[in-house]
Amino acid sequence: MADYDLIVIGAGPGGYVAAIRAAQLGLKTACVESRDTLGGTCLNVGCIPSKALLHASELYEEAHSGALEKFGINLKGASLDLKAMMAEKEKAVGELTGGIEFLFKKNKVDWIKGHAAFESASSIIVDGKSYAAKNFIIAAGSSVTPLPGVEIDNSKGVVVDSTGALELSKVPEHLVVIGGGVIGLELGSVWRRLGAKVTVVEYLDQILPGMDGEIRKESAKIFKKQGFDIQTGTKVTGVAVKGKKAILSVEPAAGGEVSTIEADAVLVSIGRRPNTDGLALDKAGITPNNRGQIAIGHDFQTSVPGIYAIGDCVPGPMLAHKAEDEGIAAAEFIAGMTGIVNHDLIPGVVYTHPEIASIGLTEEEARERGAIKVGKFPFAANSRAKANRDTDGFVKVIAEADTDRVVGVHIISSLAGTLIAQATQAMEFGACSEDIAYTCHAHPTHAEALKEAAMAVQGKPIHM
Ligand code: FAD
Ligand code: NAI
Repeated sequence: MADYDLIVIGAGPGGYVAAIRAAQLGLKTACVESRDTLGGTCLNVGCIPSKALLHASELYEEAHSGALEKFGINLKGASLDLKAMMAEKEKAVGELTGGIEFLFKKNKVDWIKGHAAFESASSIIVDGKSYAAKNFIIAAGSSVTPLPGVEIDNSKGVVVDSTGALELSKVPEHLVVIGGGVIGLELGSVWRRLGAKVTVVEYLDQILPGMDGEIRKESAKIFKKQGFDIQTGTKVTGVAVKGKKAILSVEPAAGGEVSTIEADAVLVSIGRRPNTDGLALDKAGITPNNRGQIAIGHDFQTSVPGIYAIGDCVPGPMLAHKAEDEGIAAAEFIAGMTGIVNHDLIPGVVYTHPEIASIGLTEEEARERGAIKVGKFPFAANSRAKANRDTDGFVKVIAEADTDRVVGVHIISSLAGTLIAQATQAMEFGACSEDIAYTCHAHPTHAEALKEAAMAVQGKPIHM
């Protein structure tokens, strides 16, 4: 006899959303979570605390750096109370994780507290107690990828991962970030704004792998202008901790002369890997691939009928909104419906200043598939950005040459994360660049830059 119709393992954005959706659809549902609070990586130590600190540090930099003086606002003497900043971040996290607990109660989802491991394909064990279910969704998420030769110890605050970098007790004089990806640039931005010198050591020859080439180049230029020291084509071969200092050994990625960098804090952010080790997947008959990911079919079902997997522990981008949408779709499949996630249209946003946002194919990927037309429009020619004195960045729209169908949009702008939603929706509806160009956009808004970039696909923007 099954205790539940569905047990979800993990209460991150994938798992908690799947559990709520399943309960809404009438399934008797439980969710197992080993943390003290619900919400997974995203709410506890990921999206939410990082965005809280990005927002607060941006306010501090604006107030402290004299950037507001040109608007006639003189805030000389603005100072930092890091403890208060951290406390406000914790408050946001607490309100949101508590909110999930409320939603579980409201939707009658049972929270089984503890660590789940499979006993068989139809039961799990949590703290010595066995639970059987007709279906399972594995939503165990991911953790930081370790770097050989580098020992992370968040409690000491010298060599840390993203969780440690969200709670440093003081601003390091020199922070070295290993990995010029999303976490390195977001959390590097936080500490740079708060006063740290930040060096980014990136193995590849450019930061932000996977993004559109022009966007990568432009963002590196902007970050360097902000004071980031970006060392690309460089690898860290070891970190020695001496008291409160760290000495990094670095050398060119292709090998060569070793040099050292001294730092007060080191952030290891070289990617994340799925949390599939502690689940006893073999007892359920599932073998993860060589990257630790669980293979799934179009319906999110693993090779074992009745066991589904979603989010960071399956292939694809490791993003909260992707995990959420997969959670809803998997729950709908289990309830006998057809769940839908368009994996070709998962937006990605880097929440630096300016923000960097992408949807669909990069220009490089699009060119490989066939002839394209590209329209670009700079924020330097957008009236709202000009009025705000905030003109960094551009919009790029990529359309198929023969059909004019939009296949990619890439934006650098202080509002890129918000603007990308419009491009995503247009692409979801199969828009041509002309559809965007002939849609009336309110004036003066940053969104007009997207319209102008779409007009530029035909070579006819107005304001350029
Ligand atoms: P997770 O959120 O990792 O949740 C999995 C949960 O399962 C965890 O709480 C874990 O404790 C639990 N668990 C695992 N194994 C077991 C077990 N055996 N038994 C019981 N419980 C278990 N993404 C964005 O889209 N936007 C952002 O701005 C963003 N910012 C980020 C910032 C940082 C610093 C980090 C680290 C990540 C960020 N991400 C962001 C990525 C995002 O957090 C993840 O993609 C998302 O959390 C994945 O959701 P998930 O449900 O798959 O897994
Ligand atoms: P990442 O994959 O974005 O970047 C890792 C970087 O480290 C890459 O540029 C890679 O080339 C580099 N690297 C790898 N090994 C290295 C080495 N030995 N030395 C130097 N550089 C090395 O991974 P990151 O930043 O750790 O983030 C993990 C995941 O979290 C991302 O995939 C992202 O999906 C998610 N995330 C999303 C956010 C968002 O949506 N805004 C914010 C933060 C994280």
